[in-house]
Amino acid sequence: MKARIFVTRAVFPEVLERLSQHFEVESNQDDDILSADELKQKLRGMDGVFATSSERISADVIAAAPGLKAICNMAVGFNNIDIEAATCAGIMVTNTPEVLNETTADFAWALLMAAARRVSESEHWLRAGNWTKWRYDTLLGADVHGATLGIIGMGRIGQAIARRSTGFNMKVIYHNRTRLAPELEARANDAQYVSKEELLRTADHVMLVLPYSPATHHTIGAAELALMKPSATLVNIARGGIVDDAALIVALRANRLAAAGLDVFENEPAFDPEFLTLSNVVLTPHIASASEPTRRAMTDCAADNLIAALSGATPPNILNP
Ligand code: DGY
Repeated sequence: MKARIFVTRAVFPEVLERLSQHFEVESNQDDDILSADELKQKLRGMDGVFATSSERISADVIAAAPGLKAICNMAVGFNNIDIEAATCAGIMVTNTPEVLNETTADFAWALLMAAARRVSESEHWLRAGNWTKWRYDTLLGADVHGATLGIIGMGRIGQAIARRSTGFNMKVIYHNRTRLAPELEARANDAQYVSKEELLRTADHVMLVLPYSPATHHTIGAAELALMKPSATLVNIARGGIVDDAALIVALRANRLAAAGLDVFENEPAFDPEFLTLSNVVLTPHIASASEPTRRAMTDCAADNLIAALSGATPPNILNP
C-alpha cells in the first residue's frame, strides 16, 4: 500500500505527478490558506506532508497527526515548524538549502539597488506625470559602488551576496553567530567580522540574511536603527520578525533612515499598511527565491526529501538534531 501524503499548497503540476507515482496524494491545489484546525484535519492519517513556509506546523498540529513521519518544507527557512515537537514525535523535518542561494542573493541586490537609487519611487513619480523637466537634484539617491556593505547573517546566502560585491568595489563587514573560516572570509570579498553595533554604525547599506528564531526576534529595533547612518539603506530578505516593523516605519517616516527594501514582513501577508504611505521603502511579496528555475529546484528538492524519508532512507536535507 502506498504511503499517504498531503501537499499543503499549489505546486508545479509536474511535481504532483511525480509524487503520485510514489504516494497516495491529497493536495490543496485550490491554494486556500488553511487554518490550524483545517491543517490538523488534513494531516490526520497522513504519513508525510509537503509544506511551505506559510503553514505553521506547531506542536498542536503535530500532536493531532500521530501517524506523521516526515514534514518536508519547500523553503530553506523552517521557523514555521516546531522542530523540537517533531523530533520528540519521531518525525523527520527537512528543508531546501543551497538550491536558492544564488537567486536569493540576486534579489537582495535588486532590493538594495532599487531602494538606494529610489527606483520604485522614481517610476511612480514618472507615471504620475511629474517629469516635466530635467533637474540636478531630481530623486537623488545613495551610491552603492564603493560603499561599505554590512551583512548580518553570513550563511550561504550571505556569502553569495558578499561575493557579488566585488563588482561594486565595496568593503564588506559582517556579523554572524560564529566567525567564518579565513578561506570563506577571503571568498566573500575579504569580509571582516565585526560586532553588530560596529556594523550598524559603520555600514552604508545593511542586509539582513539571518534565520528567524526567538533569539533573532527584533534583531533590528528602535535602538539598532538609531545606530545606523541616516543615509543608510536596510534590506530584509530573511524573515519578518527579525525587524520591528513599527520601529522601522517611525525611522523611515522621520528620514532617520534613508531607505529600506523589504521582501518579508511581520504577520505577512497582512503587513503593516503604514508601509504603503512611505515613498522611501521598496516592498515586495516574499519573492526573493522566486525565479522559475529556482522555485522548480526547491519543489524538486522537497519532493526528493519526502520520497527518501518515506522509503526508509535518510533524506538529504534532514534538520532534526
Ligand atoms: C525560504 O526558502 O525560506 C524562502 O523565504 C521561501 O519561504
